[in-house]
Amino acid sequence: MRGSVIMDEDSWNLRYAEALRDIASRINAVDGLITAYNTNIDAIYRVHPSTIEEMVKPYSREVLGRIRRPPRRILDERDLLAGLILCMMEGLGEEWLILDPEVSDMIPEYFARSELRMGGQAGNMANVLASLEVPLIIPHVAQLPKIQADLFIDGGRIQVPRISDGRILLVPVREAVRPGDKSLIHHVFEFHRGRRLSIGDFTAEIPRDNRFIATYDDYNTRLEIDPSFRRGSEIAGKVDGAILAGYHFLREDYLGRIEASLKQIREWRKVNPRLFIHLELGCTPNPRVRKEIVEKVFPLVDSVGLNEQELAEVMEVLKPSHGMNLRDLRPGETSPIIYEAAMVLSRLTAVRRLTVHTEDYSIRIVRDTLGIQPEAELYSLLFGSAVAASYAAHGRHMGLKAVESGLKGIPLSLEGMREFENLAGHLPADARDSFRANGFAKIGEAWLIFSVNRDVEDPATTTGLGDASTSAMVLADASARRSLPLNQS
Ligand code: GLC
Repeated sequence: MRGSVIMDEDSWNLRYAEALRDIASRINAVDGLITAYNTNIDAIYRVHPSTIEEMVKPYSREVLGRIRRPPRRILDERDLLAGLILCMMEGLGEEWLILDPEVSDMIPEYFARSELRMGGQAGNMANVLASLEVPLIIPHVAQLPKIQADLFIDGGRIQVPRISDGRILLVPVREAVRPGDKSLIHHVFEFHRGRRLSIGDFTAEIPRDNRFIATYDDYNTRLEIDPSFRRGSEIAGKVDGAILAGYHFLREDYLGRIEASLKQIREWRKVNPRLFIHLELGCTPNPRVRKEIVEKVFPLVDSVGLNEQELAEVMEVLKPSHGMNLRDLRPGETSPIIYEAAMVLSRLTAVRRLTVHTEDYSIRIVRDTLGIQPEAELYSLLFGSAVAASYAAHGRHMGLKAVESGLKGIPLSLEGMREFENLAGHLPADARDSFRANGFAKIGEAWLIFSVNRDVEDPATTTGLGDASTSAMVLADASARRSLPLNQS
């Protein structure tokens, strides 16, 4: 570990370069990863404030009322506009379920679609991992028409289980098309910071690049698991880890479906006791669903990831008295609040590795400290951030070489640097120096790890960035575990 100097921009850049070099040298040690559960198609709309202002005119008072008390589900076009405007004004990245398919069908009549892209955590992460040349990636795909299969990066690394003569085979995803399946299209509205939006007497400047997603999807929201994927537990023996997501938009009337997934996770563990399982929470508007995930899925996984908004939502159902409120998060002063909440959450749930990612920085709390390599934990965070920055800058997954070479052109987040300082000042005196000098420190029973993100000025995409960062981070975690002795992994 280094002495008691403060990490400045040069030292963060150096750490990034080391992280990329180190992880590049050990990706080969990873056999593969599973990504489950949600895969879909995203219809992307790039929205301009003027279009929205025009659309909302006939019912602006009503929409403003719904923004004040967000329904967080969509029954008509006014709910849709309320969700979209709320996210634009606050810079939020929410996803609301559309409950009436007619509303979903109507969207393309009002908004001009700019493209169709891979969507869903499982689908997005599979493509990121393929671009990083992980040898085998096994995504869960509930519906696999040709249009969905074609959105996977080709090259044979991405394979799905198929039952043939009672045996489970892995088949390259493009050869596994089921032509009669449905195309699960989610509507993704991307917007950019800095533009002004006026509704009635109300005007706001969009504070952040982000997106609002309106989803009608009868398969993923019911956690329909493809029968071959459900029965093929052997797949867990072929991989090092699994990344789970997609519980976030589970419909409350299908909450019981979580059980099938829990059973599957337990079976995977039996097949492969060394399997590293990460859960990425996602924006979960329904508090009952959120509580169920925390109570049932958290105990089964090794690692959990979420953003600051999701952290506030979880604290609301888990410990309302803790009172973490998103509105208290003023720019420049967020890291101590997020750190405190993350500590409480990791203590209450006993999650061994908890990562909170924000636009400008990530905070990781590790409780399972046996054999911990804090440097490798930091590298995982930096690797995630580098891969996400590259995706944001290009709107495409460019592969490891391009991530490395493109990094110099993407500055560090100054906000993240400020928050680093800020958090250091908040820590107990005996941890402060080590934290300042290294980006990590032991605090009581836990390790705290902090990374400053890169800041992409004018991102080519605002969707799937979390998926890029999570999958790269878990890949790095899985590769680090490969180097641990058996009894410590
Ligand atoms: C959610 C959406 C999906 C989108 C993804 C991006 O899972 O349902 O459409 O691609 O988030 O992270």
